[in-house]
Amino acid sequence: MSFPARRLRRLRTSEKMRELVRQSRLSASDLICPVFVREDIKVEADAESMSGTKILPLEGLCDEIETISGLGIPAIMLFGIPSKKDDTGTSAYGNGIVQQAISQIKSNFGDKMVIMADVCLCQYTTSGHCGIARGKKIDNDESLKILAKIATSHADAGVDTVSPSAMMDGQVAAIRDALDEGGHTDISIMSHSAKHRSNFYAPFRDAAECAPQFGDRKTYQVPYTNAREAMLEAEADVNEGVDIVMIKPALAYLDLIAEARRRFDVPVAAYSVSGEYALVKAAAKLGYVDEQAMTEEILASIKRAGADMIVTYFAKSAAGFIQ
Ligand code: PBG
Repeated sequence: MSFPARRLRRLRTSEKMRELVRQSRLSASDLICPVFVREDIKVEADAESMSGTKILPLEGLCDEIETISGLGIPAIMLFGIPSKKDDTGTSAYGNGIVQQAISQIKSNFGDKMVIMADVCLCQYTTSGHCGIARGKKIDNDESLKILAKIATSHADAGVDTVSPSAMMDGQVAAIRDALDEGGHTDISIMSHSAKHRSNFYAPFRDAAECAPQFGDRKTYQVPYTNAREAMLEAEADVNEGVDIVMIKPALAYLDLIAEARRRFDVPVAAYSVSGEYALVKAAAKLGYVDEQAMTEEILASIKRAGADMIVTYFAKSAAGFIQ
């Protein structure tokens, strides 16, 4: 027998052969497109730290949703930038910028677009923290009450899925209870289950103006050194009735995406965050990498690791070329 018996190159001989043996596939229908809406502007702006990402006013918002929908992307994730912040984040609930955006999109698109909305406090609090600050501490259980109010206000406006990202213990249970009590039993929850204390969020914090004004997020976000702790976070959410778990960020956390896929039978989402996007954008701008090729490879890797869906700032551009 000649050596080697198994030549893996046999199945790589042509494009068609490679297509035939392909083991994972990405399509536009796997993508969730983040959408930023800002209260105090009348014309759209480019997010400086995340070039190519728009910050939109309410006016004309539906044109952008039409574009996203036309690309075959089934879902959006709304983030609001309010004109006022206060201690308890009151502009996050009631008829705020996100609630207005939700009802506008819902009345124009109905079931043709899955509307997801971020449920958090950091854009809305003067502290810039994801929960209510008491002195220098973030009060978990007080924060739960507000997060539940925000989720209910989104549901009242017509959201399909609420996506808590505050990393407060018990946030899924608190939100599920409030939604059910409000008659919103069909509104799903996609929790940022294992959201890590990451440096990859920096461009988003610039764009959404939500950087913490004192301290950091280490008392609530998961340390990026702790894989088992990340799984406990996801397990807690599953036990609290979450519909979709999420691992965030994505590219430096592929091991956790794969592990969550193995452990849980709910869909697993991955959030490829602003820093992942900005690194590719910056390197491409300098001519060091090919943006399209890098995007394809990164998203394919996240899918291969086990993500059922990916929140990515590349959603619109990628929808045009992925296969
Ligand atoms: C706030 C929030 C952040 C992101 C999503 N929601 C920032 C943070 O936790 O500091 C980051 C997303 C990104 O970087 O793309 N709760």
